[in-house]
Amino acid sequence: MDPIKHLEDLERRAELGGGEERLRRQHDAGKLTARERLDLLFDPGTFQETDKLVTHRCRDFGMDAPDQIIPGDGVVTGVGRVDGRPVYAFAQDFTVFGGSLSETNAAKIVKIMDLAVKMGAPVVGLNDSGGARIQEGVLSLGGYADIFLRNTLASGVVPQISAIMGPCAGGAVYSPAITDFNVMVEGTSYMFVTGPDVIRTVTHEDVTKDELGGAMTHNATSGVAHFAVPDDRACLRLIRELLSYMPSNNVDDPPRMATSDPVDREEAALDTLVPASPNQPYDMLDLIHAISDEGAFLEVHRHFAKNIIVGFARLGGRSAGIVANQPAHLAGTLDIDASVKAARFVRFCDAFNIPLVTFEDVPGFLPGTRQEYGGIIRHGAKLLFAFAEATVPKVTVITRKAYGGAYCVMSSKHIRTDVNFAWPSAEIAVMGPEGAVNVLYRRELEKAPDPAATRAQRVEEFREKFANPYIAAARGFIDEVIHPRQTRGKLIAALAGLETKRDKNPPKKHGNIPL
Ligand code: HXC
Repeated sequence: MDPIKHLEDLERRAELGGGEERLRRQHDAGKLTARERLDLLFDPGTFQETDKLVTHRCRDFGMDAPDQIIPGDGVVTGVGRVDGRPVYAFAQDFTVFGGSLSETNAAKIVKIMDLAVKMGAPVVGLNDSGGARIQEGVLSLGGYADIFLRNTLASGVVPQISAIMGPCAGGAVYSPAITDFNVMVEGTSYMFVTGPDVIRTVTHEDVTKDELGGAMTHNATSGVAHFAVPDDRACLRLIRELLSYMPSNNVDDPPRMATSDPVDREEAALDTLVPASPNQPYDMLDLIHAISDEGAFLEVHRHFAKNIIVGFARLGGRSAGIVANQPAHLAGTLDIDASVKAARFVRFCDAFNIPLVTFEDVPGFLPGTRQEYGGIIRHGAKLLFAFAEATVPKVTVITRKAYGGAYCVMSSKHIRTDVNFAWPSAEIAVMGPEGAVNVLYRRELEKAPDPAATRAQRVEEFREKFANPYIAAARGFIDEVIHPRQTRGKLIAALAGLETKRDKNPPKKHGNIPL
């Protein structure tokens, strides 16, 4: 056969994957194909495929029949550019044996992960697979373990992003679980360790695939996923946007973007953002949007633990990881989920040289038996550990409450935060005035002829003394009490000053974060 024709024939077969009928079914299911997905992920014309002609080695179960040997073997791998920067990717092809993972298919993924680490470039995995290739048994399981090892070793070296764009079940879920961010497509994707049938048999629970492991389950309830998107196109757009905030590896700095938003832009509305009544909520997102370049904020984990906000913004063109208590939800208290959510985000930013900007309005840790039995001590410690360990530039703004242990945890001066600002409305105290008065004046209140009047008077005295930022400012725990309207300019100036920051932790194999 003509050698050129032979190559063209192989290439065509690789591109056809499981064949026209299965490609049609993929579209009918509302999903794009692996190649269409990669085209949308990368800058046009930049994708270079690797291992297009790899085939499986299985000779059992009729797998040696010519129509069972498909060039590429169910996963498309390679490197392309996202906004000009190299990114490695794999896309499982559901049309070939359900995108299941064979020995050689795993080896293709491992190859691009190794290349990504060597080149210092992110890895994006587009998952759409029936799991371990059943015909290959332990060879497939071994392939998964090979990938899990790479995920672990690459963690903190290059960013890893997983998109779940179809099934992802059984042990296969643990690769996305180790990566930094999981994006799930609503309606077509699901993740679970054991499916509804097994659950029905073992626990007699009746649950649908979507209820058990759909996009919103993992975004809002389990916290396994960080983003929910309506379709494949939105998923790939989001991954491109997410990558724009991060460097290619742990040695580089995040890309700096041009901005036409003035660095000293003042926002008069911030002067009245904090309500006069200390227990009245407000939306911390208003502050984040007001201070960010062009008002843009990419919120991570938006549906999970809404009492804390995390995500990416730019300030004067520099990427920043934002962590903020949300007084509009559970009064901004720190609970188990909020602590874990924020701790993981802080550690991502620290690993990848992204400065941390913290907005604080926290009345404390959420009280109650559910939280204590669930281990709020252990989980809250994660956030404390993460902030304390972080050596990236850290800037904090206390807008209102900074009470008790939560004051220490939320990137206080004492745990190596570089610049600590407070608004004049800040209240920095061991606890809120009402709680403090109950403890300090219990006996007096018991004997008082008019306990309510006495309590009100004591609360007012306490508020006068402690519910302000000036004691902390007098000690230097707050570097500056700023006018709320000037917050953007103050943050940008602080981050510019911290650009040359060098800080290290003591040499160790690794710390022992309370997991
Ligand atoms: C080989 C597989 C496969 C698999 C699907 N196919 N999963 N081939 N190994 N694991 C093939 C099917 O035979 C079929 O081939 C094609 O892919 C599409 O599958 P359908 O069943 O027709 O598609 P659909 O109805 O959409 O159902 C998708 C599915 C289902 C829910 C994923 O296929 C399924 O339940 N598959 C098995 C899932 C599973 O139990 N995997 C092992 C999990 S354990 P044809 O030729 O008909 O198109 C695991 C362990 C990992 O993964 C361990 C890591 C440590």
